[in-house]
Amino acid sequence: MGVRRRGARLALATGGVLAALFAASCEQAKRDDAAPSAAAASIERGRKVYLANCTACHNTDPGLPGAIGPAVAGSQRALIEARVLRAEYPPGYTPKRPTHAMVALPQLAGSIDDLAAYLASVTPR
Ligand code: HEC
Repeated sequence: MGVRRRGARLALATGGVLAALFAASCEQAKRDDAAPSAAAASIERGRKVYLANCTACHNTDPGLPGAIGPAVAGSQRALIEARVLRAEYPPGYTPKRPTHAMVALPQLAGSIDDLAAYLASVTPR
């Protein structure tokens, strides 16, 4: 075996290691992207659910008061769940309005996380 062939094998091995490292760093980059895009997808689903189910009473901009519902931007998940599923409030919560005009929308049980992600993404004013 000549020096040249050993050199070639070494080059191949080095190339393999580099390719593996490159692939690994791409995997890492893909994983880093996955989290924010999953969050963005949840916010977008929540926005659609909000526009379709809440804006008869709340403002299309959740940071502002609506026709009869108060501003709801930044609402905690527990508050959203209690209101939307049962028209209640979490224990100890002081409501923004003393009225009881909001109806429960229990059919939205599967969208509470998305609604919470969306309302958390809008800065309260
Ligand atoms: C029929 C009108 C109506 C609809 C539809 C409605 N709301 Fe409401 N919402 C209200 C009103 C009015 C209040 C104030 C309390 C009350 O009168 O029940 C309120 C209160 C709230 C509160 C509590 C605000 C606070 O901090 O005191 C949250 C959160 C909320 N609504 C979220 C939603 C979400 C999310 C949806 C859609 C899934 C929705 N509401 C649909 C009328 C509505």
